[in-house]
Amino acid sequence: MAEASVSRHGMWSSRLLFVLAAAGSAVGLGNIWKFPYIAGENGGGAFVVVYLLCVVLVGIPIMMAEVLLGRSGRVSPINTMRKLVINAKASPLWVLIGWMGALAGFLILSYYGVIAGWALYYGVEMASGHFTGADAAAVSGTFDDFLANPWQLLFWQTLFMAMTIFIVARGVVRGLEVAIRLFMPALFILLVVLLGYAVTSGGFAEGFAFMFHFDWSALGVDGVLVALGQAFFTLSLGMGAIMAYGAYMPANSSIGSTVVSIASLDTLIAIVAGLAIFPIVFANALEPGEGPGLMFVTIPLAFAQMPFGALFGTIFFVLVSFAAITSAISLTEPALAYLVEQYNANRARVAISLGVICWLLGIGTVLSFNHWEQITLVGGQNFFGTVDYLSQNIMLPLGGLLIALFAGWVLPRMVTEEQLGSSPWVARFFLPLVRYVAPACVLAVFAYTLYSSLT
Ligand code: PFF
Repeated sequence: MAEASVSRHGMWSSRLLFVLAAAGSAVGLGNIWKFPYIAGENGGGAFVVVYLLCVVLVGIPIMMAEVLLGRSGRVSPINTMRKLVINAKASPLWVLIGWMGALAGFLILSYYGVIAGWALYYGVEMASGHFTGADAAAVSGTFDDFLANPWQLLFWQTLFMAMTIFIVARGVVRGLEVAIRLFMPALFILLVVLLGYAVTSGGFAEGFAFMFHFDWSALGVDGVLVALGQAFFTLSLGMGAIMAYGAYMPANSSIGSTVVSIASLDTLIAIVAGLAIFPIVFANALEPGEGPGLMFVTIPLAFAQMPFGALFGTIFFVLVSFAAITSAISLTEPALAYLVEQYNANRARVAISLGVICWLLGIGTVLSFNHWEQITLVGGQNFFGTVDYLSQNIMLPLGGLLIALFAGWVLPRMVTEEQLGSSPWVARFFLPLVRYVAPACVLAVFAYTLYSSLT
């Protein structure tokens, strides 16, 4: 195969920038809101151990596979798969990996933009002092009123989507990279500041114990599968986002060590987020609730009761917004890069068109919290539930499974060695993981999510 050494879309200026970009994609609502809660509820330390195993045995090999496929194609995931399929004389059906990924990214972004819009709203409300001194009824009333008003939700969704599309339209180097250079260090600093605040809040020991107590009995089969599912979603795997980013990775950096750095950063941030959130919750004698309740009711309430709560609450929601935007920009890349290549189109124009369609689709999610709340589509879920379920529970695991199988069984060994080097660990670790272990684990999650949705 004629190897392109650069991508027409631009290249990350260094290995570090690639690490930050991929970590930016990985670190999002999944880390700051979901991980701490599910770790606490599924056996704490026991869950963290199993989650780490999942990251190592499934997450890292599939991420390596995505990066190696992307870097060997140097084009969008759809066209990369086309190139690789021709090269390997394999069935063109494998190109579906690219198509399904582009579609999944689009679907995820349609609701991700709505929820991230809430974080923007809460950041502004915190800064204005709206929550200062508020009691539980007032804080949950604010959330209920906010959700009941589609125009409000629409406004914040529009703002978030406009910011995302603005960044994406400017291109890989002038848009994505500039945003990543700015937001990622800011995110690290804000997280450390919040951690410091949590350590001195008085609830640190309790928060730490909630996340790390070793309770194997609370884990169970469910917990193991939740850990695997989380490893998958949080690392942005299965939809080609990392494959698209891999296409812009410098040729001379090692894929193995780079991917290990990305996965470690993602995990570290999830753990630190938990250690920053729970002490604040416990210091105020609150219960760590689930889902939107934790992030948009419990946490604002905790900050409302604390000294400098408005300041640190604002910091928290700015942090969530930064994390969400660096994930959102990666969700558009597979579809965007493909359309630019296919129609030789102007990137900004494609970005705006895609953004508008995605924004329109997101209105379905906006309405799912008020007017359409009771209107059910697939499996008794409303519009938001359906889009979320299809993308996260079906398309991502299926995409991940196919990526692992393609990289493990179909891709010529020569291409793998070209990208990963021919050191013995490729045969000893990467191939067995990507051929057997990762597909078996993903199949288990896949079967389980289907099973549990049917029962
Ligand atoms: N990894 C993101 C999170 O943890 O919130 C979500 C995500 C982003 C999933 C990008 C998939 C993706 F391609």
